[in-house]
Amino acid sequence: MTDRPGAVIAGTGSYVPEKVLTNLDLAKMVDTSDEWITVRTGIKQRRIASDGQTTASMGVIASRRALEDAAVAPEQVEAIICATITPEMPLPATACFIQGQLGASKASAFDIAAACSGFIYSLEVGRLFIESGQYNNVLVVGSETLSRITDYKDRSSCILFGDGAGAALLRSTNDPHRRILYTHLKSDGRKWELLQLPGGGSRYPLSQQVLDQRMQYMKIQGQAIYKFAVSAMQELIVEAMKACNLSVDDIKLIVPHQVNRRIIDSATEKLGFPPERVYVNIDRYGNTSSASVPIALDEARRAGKIGPGDTVVMVAFGGGLTWASAVARL
Ligand code: ACO
Repeated sequence: MTDRPGAVIAGTGSYVPEKVLTNLDLAKMVDTSDEWITVRTGIKQRRIASDGQTTASMGVIASRRALEDAAVAPEQVEAIICATITPEMPLPATACFIQGQLGASKASAFDIAAACSGFIYSLEVGRLFIESGQYNNVLVVGSETLSRITDYKDRSSCILFGDGAGAALLRSTNDPHRRILYTHLKSDGRKWELLQLPGGGSRYPLSQQVLDQRMQYMKIQGQAIYKFAVSAMQELIVEAMKACNLSVDDIKLIVPHQVNRRIIDSATEKLGFPPERVYVNIDRYGNTSSASVPIALDEARRAGKIGPGDTVVMVAFGGGLTWASAVARL
């Protein structure tokens, strides 16, 4: 029991674009097959933003849905944190575009760049804002237009990624039983090379040479990330369970970053979680980086798989390297 306010996830929302890119579509673009992609990753299709859609426009739709779900008006939001690696522009922050379009006139707004762990990084910041007493309503968004930084000539990476957005409204609560119980963030910058988009920053400013070398697209070292992700996912879940004194049976649902079906299955099976208590939608959306956890969380809530009082463990890992976990009692 504590007198400190806590942050409860009071509402969630998500959005994925209508356009579908199937494995068969990709097989017409690069030397791959539906079978290879399905067996190696579990992905069958992903959603792709249309020409007019952007990270902010998708983030706004997901945010409106989260606010509606929480019955909170835009003017009540005091901070907007947007996790993304595909910002609307380098300047200003995508969260500012979202704030403007929502009409959240009283909110501060800024972005967090922690790749696929970005939503959980944002959740920790939002949680601490609320626990400190600084704010009562914080909107946390993960939104990505990965199709704009995916190299559709590179078969080892273009099969993985999709677009979408998810959001959660965190609200101050005095109920000690319903709140975000735990967040834990990690990073190892020595391994930055495993996942990078080298072009367009201060090291390699945009130039014809950068474009000719396709440095405006993500480069991944899939095998190394695969090994890291399996052990990181297990380690994150075990640490979170220990910190919150939880057994497998106490956890209603694991909501993992949708990185690869084999990674998710292998990590959670070893820990004794039955498949029905691990949320997977990678078959439909692929990897949507920082949007992946909030989209999955929102879908699971709306499908009635989790509800008030249930304990959820979220885990993610990505470029940086970064990795992170959160335990929330809804
Ligand atoms: N279709 C057909 N063959 C392919 C494809 C493809 N799309 N991509 C690679 N191959 C070939 C390779 O050329 C290689 O051929 P070779 O044996 O003749 O050299 C063979 O398939 C095996 O390639 P690997 O890279 O070893 O394949 P792997 O089983 O590791 O699967 C994958 C690749 C799916 C990317 C996997 O490593 C993975 O899921 N990694 C982690 C996910 C990841 O990196 N995500 C990036 C985002 S980071 C994040 O979200 C944390």
